[in-house]
Amino acid sequence: MPTAFIPPDYFRRYGVAEIFGRGAECEVDLGCGDGGFLMAVAQQHPDRLYLGVERLLGRLRKVCSRADRLGLQNVRGVRAESRYFLEWMLEPASVRRLHYLFPDPWPKEKHHKKRLVQKEIVPVLHRVLTPEGELLFRTDHAGYYEWVCECMEDAGLFERAEWTDLDSYPSSDFQRQWESQGRLIYSARYIRKA
Ligand SMILES: C[S@@+](CC[C@H](N)C(=O)[O-])C[C@H]1O[C@@H](n2cnc3c(N)ncnc32)[C@H](O)[C@@H]1O
Repeated sequence: MPTAFIPPDYFRRYGVAEIFGRGAECEVDLGCGDGGFLMAVAQQHPDRLYLGVERLLGRLRKVCSRADRLGLQNVRGVRAESRYFLEWMLEPASVRRLHYLFPDPWPKEKHHKKRLVQKEIVPVLHRVLTPEGELLFRTDHAGYYEWVCECMEDAGLFERAEWTDLDSYPSSDFQRQWESQGRLIYSARYIRKA
């Protein structure tokens, strides 16, 4: 099966079995960039399925060729806008973990409406996750960290949880860049409520 998942129709939903040719649940990396995290986590857990969502074609192509070079059978990449893909193209209860790593923080107030996480997306995240599903969020931007935590907590659909295996969680490309500049990293884990 090709690593790039090219949806034949952008106006219907897809289940994990259709995207990967097997399985009932997967993990999704929202805005996967060049795929550094995706490659590492897919190698760490060959028994799990990983889907990278990225809106830039060049980055998505890079992700797919990296996965092919590494022979990773458990990775797929889709060129899509994250919110549209979650809201309209994925079957409900199909994602075990949503990884949301070092997203664009859109720091200027007039750009806050461009942030992926808004109050309105929280029910979408809840619907797409399996009953025991979770959101794993990391950023170097204090303002966006607070914004996401507030959206998640105000909705009452998720419970904040300790992130116990953070030490073995792979770094992303942007994380390495920010850490090399000595920036502080903020992390939050939210478990879906029934
Ligand atoms: C700052 S980079 C972080 C990449 C990666 N997660 C990392 O930590 O290295 C943000 C990535 O998200 C992608 N992106 C931003 N908004 C997106 C959206 N709404 N849907 C899909 N991809 C998006 C960008 O093209 C970019 O590759």
